[in-house]
Amino acid sequence: MDNVPAADLARRPDEVAAMFDDVADRYDLTNDVLALGQTRLWRRAVVNAVDPLPGDRVLDLAAGTGTSSSPLARRGARVIPCDFSLGMLSVGARRDPSLAFVAGDALRLPFADDAFDSVTISFGLRNTLDPVAALTEMRRVTRPGGRLVVCEFSHPTWAPMRTVYTEYLMRSLPSVARRLASEPEAYVYLAESIRAWPDQPALSGLIRTAGWSSVAWLNLTGGIVALHRAINPASSPPAPAPAPAPAPA
Ligand SMILES: C[S@@+](CC[C@H](N)C(=O)[O-])C[C@H]1O[C@@H](n2cnc3c(N)ncnc32)[C@H](O)[C@@H]1O
Repeated sequence: MDNVPAADLARRPDEVAAMFDDVADRYDLTNDVLALGQTRLWRRAVVNAVDPLPGDRVLDLAAGTGTSSSPLARRGARVIPCDFSLGMLSVGARRDPSLAFVAGDALRLPFADDAFDSVTISFGLRNTLDPVAALTEMRRVTRPGGRLVVCEFSHPTWAPMRTVYTEYLMRSLPSVARRLASEPEAYVYLAESIRAWPDQPALSGLIRTAGWSSVAWLNLTGGIVALHRAINPASSPPAPAPAPAPAPA
């Protein structure tokens, strides 16, 4: 990989936060270039999937610089962008001073139970140490009947496109990033973490494991990105039945 060290995918949360602190200043520019102009389309799809009513309370988790939050605010939602990288939050506060950024960890959210009508996360779930724990915590802060929208890199469904895309991820993306980004190693991590991320049905399974219901997904850009949607059931799913006692010998 062109002399760039391989990314360690099992990063500690403080290492992930520090990595985003380092790329914060050029994050949005680098992102737009590397996503080959697709980000606007993906952001529009997120807003349509969240479909907030004016005044709805929406948590945008792992919001970074708030680029995923601003379109929700423009739709009339009361959006709270939350992230644990102070570097990303301070770039965001300069970029869009109208947003009320909150510092917080996806695994221990600083919000009350049922605080939000919807919760969404764009390109952040993959970075959490324990995605099922994050999805469970997201469900805790969502009211019963409220909505989850996860926008994340996924797996192209058409085999020839998958081959070209994997080549782009593992070769072109790190070398383009090296020219654009202050911390190109972060983009090697990006490429490798995308490759290792569960595909669409497997992520649906993780969302269900976290207690969400009515899970469905929509492929964007041929499955390079997938939008998973789910509902917080009105009551918690029943705990699994205890294993039957062994029959007496
Ligand atoms: C690729 S950026 C996405 C930012 C934004 N949502 C977007 O779409 O542009 C991923 C963000 O996830 C944040 N993140 C990763 N793990 C997190 C955690 N456990 N708690 C809060 N934020 C986290 C990082 O700090 C980073 O800002």
